[in-house]
Formats: sequence, C-alpha cells, structure tokens
Amino acid sequence: MLFALAMDAVKAAVGVLDLSTVLVLVVSFLATVVLLGRSRRRGRLPPGPRPWPLIGNLPSLTAHPHRKFTEWRGRYGDVYTVRMGPDDVVIVNGWDAARESLVRQADDFADRPRLYVFDRLSHGGKGVIFGQYNLAWKANRKFVTTTLREFGLGKQSMETRIQEEARELCNWLGSYDGRPLDTGLLASAASNVICSVVFGSRFPYEHEDFRQMMALLDRGLRLSMVGQIFNMFPWARFVPFLSNLGNQVIDNCDQIDEFLKKIVKKHKDSFDPETRRDVIDAYLHQMWQGMDLNSNDLADKFSEEHLVALMFDLFVAGTDTTASTLRWALLFLATHPDVQSKVQEEVDRVVGRETPVSLAHRPDLPYTDAVLHEVLRMRSPAALSPPHMTGTDVTLNGYDIPQNTQVYINLWSLHMDPAYWPDPERFDPTRFIGSNGKVLPNPPSYAPFSLGRRACAGKQLAKSETFLFLVSMVQHFSFKLPEGAAAPPMDGVMGFALAPPQHSLCAVSRD
Ligand code: HEM
Repeated sequence: MLFALAMDAVKAAVGVLDLSTVLVLVVSFLATVVLLGRSRRRGRLPPGPRPWPLIGNLPSLTAHPHRKFTEWRGRYGDVYTVRMGPDDVVIVNGWDAARESLVRQADDFADRPRLYVFDRLSHGGKGVIFGQYNLAWKANRKFVTTTLREFGLGKQSMETRIQEEARELCNWLGSYDGRPLDTGLLASAASNVICSVVFGSRFPYEHEDFRQMMALLDRGLRLSMVGQIFNMFPWARFVPFLSNLGNQVIDNCDQIDEFLKKIVKKHKDSFDPETRRDVIDAYLHQMWQGMDLNSNDLADKFSEEHLVALMFDLFVAGTDTTASTLRWALLFLATHPDVQSKVQEEVDRVVGRETPVSLAHRPDLPYTDAVLHEVLRMRSPAALSPPHMTGTDVTLNGYDIPQNTQVYINLWSLHMDPAYWPDPERFDPTRFIGSNGKVLPNPPSYAPFSLGRRACAGKQLAKSETFLFLVSMVQHFSFKLPEGAAAPPMDGVMGFALAPPQHSLCAVSRD
C-alpha cells in the first residue's frame, strides 16, 4: 500500500516527470544510499517473507496490503515480520494474537513510532493519533473521550447535531431528483458533524471556509500518504526533485495549522467562562485551569499546540472513516436490493417515514444495526491499524520482539477469518443477529475500531453517526446503481481509509 500510494502521489505531484523516470531516480538513489552501508539486522524477530534489498517487501504490498498480509498468515503464522523500506515491521494477524498484543499486553503495544511526517502533523507527537504513549497523550486522550461523551448529554447534544446534519444530507440528496450523484460527497456531511462538535456550528456545504477546510484536509490526507516515502526514507526530502514534495507536505501542514489557529483565536476572543460551546471551549477551560493553578504539570499536557494537533486528529480520524463506511453501506444496499427492502420495512415499521430517527430506536432496529455491523466487518475503513510500536522488549506467540519495533494489526484478517465468519466474502447481516433476535453484543474476531489503549477514541460518535445517517437516508430514499451501470469493483481502494472506488448512485425518493 505504502509503496503504491507513495508512487501515485509522486506521480501526481511531480507531474512533469513520467512515473518510470521517477521510479528509476528513486530506486537509483536508494540503491546508492543503501549500498553505501545502510542496512539493519532483523535480530530475533519472527521470520517472514524474504525482503528485497533496499525496498524490503514493499513491491508485494501494492494495492491491497491487508489481503497480502492475510495470505502470508497461511504461510508464516499469526505473527511475522516484513520489511518496509529499511524498517522491520511485525504484522499481527487473527483474533488470538490481536487480543494477546492489544489487550493482554496493552501497555507494551500502545506506543506509536516517531515518523517524520506524522511528527510534523502532530507538532512533535502531540494530539492523540500520533502521540507517543506518555502522560500528555493519556491526559489528551482522556479529555477527548470525556468531552465527546459530555456532548452526548449536553443541551445541544451530539444526537441533535447529527440529526440536523442528516436533515441537510437528505435535502442535498433530494436536490438530485433521482439523478446519479457521487457518494464521495458524504465526506462533507461527516466532516460537518466534526465541525459542529469542535467549532460549535456546522457550515453550509458551499460556505467558503468549509470548502477551504475540506480542500486542505483532502490534500493533507493525500500528502500524508505521499509522506510515507519520507516516513520510511526521511533523507528523501533532501533529494532535489523530491524535496519539492516534502515542501508541499510541510506547506499543507502549515496552512492547516494556520486555519485551525484562526478558529482557536476566535474562540479565545469570545470565550465565556460560564459556557462550553464546543470541544475548543472545553479545551480552553482545561488549559487555563492549568495556568490559574500555575501548574507546570498541566501546562505540559494541555497547550495550544496540543489543542491544534487534537483538532486536526478529530477531522482526520472522523471524516474519511465515517464517510467510507456510509458509502460502503449504500453500495451494499444498492447491490443487495433484498437487504435494502428488509431494512426499509423495519425502519417503516419502527420509526415510520415522518418521525426523525433517534438513537433510542436502535435496539428496535436489529436488522438495520446488523447491516452496519456487516459493512464494518466486510469493508472496515481501517483494514490495517495505524502503526503501533512496542514500548519495551516483549514476547508474542513465542517470539521476542525488541522495544521500538513497529507493529501493524491486520484487522482484515480478523474479519475475513473463515473459522469465525463462514464464507466471509458473502454479505450477510444475519450473522450478527443472535437467537434472541438481538444484535450480538461482542462477537469474537470482530474489532473494526481496534482494541486496547489505542482503540478508536470516536467509536460512539462514529456508531451514532453511521446509524442516524443511514436510517435517515433509507427512510426517504431507495438507492440503486444508475440505469445500465455495472457495480464498481468491491475490493476497495486503499488510501487513508479502505474506500469504495469512485462511483455514482441514484437516490430515488420514497416520499
Ligand atoms: C466508522 C468510523 C470509524 C472507524 C471504523 C474507526 C476506526 C479506528 C481505528 C481502527 C483506529 C486505530 C486504532 C489502533 O491504532 O489500533 C482509530 C483511531 C482513532 N479514531 Fe477512529 N474510527 C472511526 C471514526 C472515528 C471518529 C468519528 C472519530 C472522532 C471524531 C475518531 C477518532 C479516533 C481517534 C482520535 C483515534 C486515535 C486513537 C489513539 O491513537 O489513541 N474515529 N479509529
């Protein structure tokens, strides 16, 4: 994946050079550097596929690394090592090894590697996603989970915010009057929920600030993938034609920073100690409390830099993941009309066409809920976890893994394991319904939000959003492929999230 993404992005960004020239230049440069002596021992790491000189196993990890990792599981077992560029990376597959690492040895597998681009994006490891596993990370992670929960209870609750966005989304779908629409636009709805929670208000989709932010984030996501080149080969930013790319990554980070800092400034100027309009206000409360108490300890954990990194995290983690899940859900419904009819029948019976759906309806909509579970099993946007890192020397499945080793959890291997999910490529929501007719609470070999210390901090928000958005959409529309169009390939495209390829659907009004 990393190799393919990096190459795609290099191609797009360099523009004037054709891809083969770029490849030859990159490989020649790498060869020179590596032949000059850069190499690393694999130590006592678990064995895995034989790596190529210089680039390791990257050529095998082109479009669908999660599938390749799952295939290699058959040959090398649940835990093995691959080489990504110069780095040894341990791949963890299957339910048992995932739980052994992320749950039973939770602290030891909870760190993140310090990689060049991630470091830039996170102001040197601040925020939550890329933060090192230390006291500041723990404090900020606790802040996020608590604040997201509090907004669930507040006056302008999370639910109300999502319901408002779902209404706008349906208006927007209706404006196409059944004509084909690009479901990529669902990202605006997902992003707007984050705006509402973080900035205090949603934006009209055509608002200039909103469009600017979406463009910056979109470019940031694409560049963060290009950035994998610099993560693996940090010196590449000094190579003349690649430095241009490196500058673009940094320039985009700076622009996002500036944008977010402006919003923080507006909040500081209009701050009222008696109210908390949103996540930024809640953070400023926390930050200034540290200053009032003259506490260095709090100041080290809560600062404006941490806040900006955190805001960035919420947009990055909360937009593409949620939008991809919804896009997959609509695509599965459009290609499985029998499932769509059952969902609509259940929604009509329990909620009706006029009442706005609420979270309280969920227990009475087990089939619809099961559809979302099945979508997240079959096409979880996080087929692979972001890189973890061992914080100490550890033993896993009998192998010694040294401190500071990168570890990827192959969540795809859990969800596609035929021992738990017979005929895993068959879309069958009833797998998630127990004999009592309810959705199974914690099925084994299922972890779309991952496990342990680093498990998704926005899980509840994501579950609420996907449920309320999906039910609102099927209440008012039936989804189908445009007349005569074939279903797009269902393998997905690996970017920041595993997303469906670009495609159109028709939202035909049921009203
Ligand atoms: C369907 C939607 C989503 C899915 C499937 C998903 C899944 C994940 C996964 C697999 C991870 C990585 C866990 C690991 O490293 O092992 C993660 C991390 C994270 N997610 Fe989500 N996520 C979703 C939506 C959201 C939303 C809406 C937010 C909040 C706005 C969010 C916030 C985060 C954060 C902050 C992290 C970093 C946690 C950490 O490193 O401590 N996610 N998510």
